[in-house]
Amino acid sequence: MFEQVNINREVIGAGENLLICGNVMALPQEIRDLAGKAQCVYLDPPFMTGEKFMRRRPYGEQGWRTGTPAPRYPAYEDRYTGEKEYLRLLRRLVGVAKDLLADTGVFYLHLDWRMAAPARIMCDKVFGKTRYLNEIIWAYESGGRSRRYFSRKHDVILLYAKGPKYGFDLTRVPLPRGEGRRNHMARGRDEQGRMFSSIVSHGKEYRYFDDEPIYPGDVWTDISHLQQRDPERTGYATQKPLKLLERLLLPVTREGDLVVDLCCGSGTTLEAADRLGCRFAGMDVNPEAVSITLNRLKSSNLTVLCPGGKGGKVRLLTEDDTEGGRFRMNGLEMENPAFPAKQSALDNVESWETGRIEDGVFYADQRFRRSFRYPELTQELKLDPASVTAVVTTDAAGIRRAWKRCPEE
Ligand SMILES: C[S@@+](CC[C@H](N)C(=O)[O-])C[C@H]1O[C@@H](n2cnc3c(N)ncnc32)[C@H](O)[C@@H]1O
Repeated sequence: MFEQVNINREVIGAGENLLICGNVMALPQEIRDLAGKAQCVYLDPPFMTGEKFMRRRPYGEQGWRTGTPAPRYPAYEDRYTGEKEYLRLLRRLVGVAKDLLADTGVFYLHLDWRMAAPARIMCDKVFGKTRYLNEIIWAYESGGRSRRYFSRKHDVILLYAKGPKYGFDLTRVPLPRGEGRRNHMARGRDEQGRMFSSIVSHGKEYRYFDDEPIYPGDVWTDISHLQQRDPERTGYATQKPLKLLERLLLPVTREGDLVVDLCCGSGTTLEAADRLGCRFAGMDVNPEAVSITLNRLKSSNLTVLCPGGKGGKVRLLTEDDTEGGRFRMNGLEMENPAFPAKQSALDNVESWETGRIEDGVFYADQRFRRSFRYPELTQELKLDPASVTAVVTTDAAGIRRAWKRCPEE
């Protein structure tokens, strides 16, 4: 039998990367301790849209397999009493970002037409005008269209360096040159058979070989927003594409560098950093964001600081087959959950982990979660049930609970 207990942190593997549920206005010590260590801080804060965002979370095996059912839950509110309150948050974010950066580090601030202008003035003040590097325009086609003005179809990503000797290697983001829009150029083939376009200027011939890469400028039109059925989608309303984050991180980081995102939402930055072999620290004020991020991350080297369960009558159903050497997860029995009416104990579980609890810390040794690729939950473990002394579950609404084995009566 397992009983619900409180844990104050979870450690997976060596626990070096960080995922924290916290508010940047009351910065947790774990983030303060990273001052001067980050090679890149990327921030995608609320845009001051005035919206109240919802999120969709697939329910059970069918939900993850087909996309329905996927009940809607409140995500985060992008609502402020006015510009003053919003700018207070932004000033805090930019100030903390600068403190976290190493002298060679860089800062990205992702906004849209609403707040990009005051943010540019603010960042010029905090980082200094000479540290401004780029205003990247990320243009896309999705979303509604206006007839009263030109449709607003781009986000703005400001790039600043902390100091004069910042790391930046554009050759890490090559794009295929192809034939492109070079109709005004002559086409040719050299002695090795390589195709090129050429132009003569001031008597000199310039050749651009088809097989040589080109590098992105500051207007990006080749990365689209995530489509409804994109397997990368987590259901978090303002999720950014991994491809965008990879292009932002690649030129400014190397393997082992630290990447920080203080408004990590569904965790795109952290997943991108993890894929690139970087260390990472992510934070979000919204526990659901942290829960989605955790389910998404494959990292086996993570510390998670997030409040646990929210009460309610819940029972963990497990089965020990001591002779067969098997431990089985049979689900969560819940009263009044915020799931579809016909719920099953197993479908109520989105992910589960096994491990041990010591002094309020859960040390995980195995993690199982549903995903669009693996909608079915791993239910049975071939190991001595007695070795499973603690379990952490995330239910289908994203609520995490810790359970400790209690002595049989
Ligand atoms: C635009 S979303 C980030 C989306 C993210 N880039 C992604 O790909 O999923 C902004 C996030 O900022 C978080 N946020 C808002 N105020 C915050 C605060 N004071 N401290 C930390 N996070 C905050 C919200 O909860 C939200 O998840």
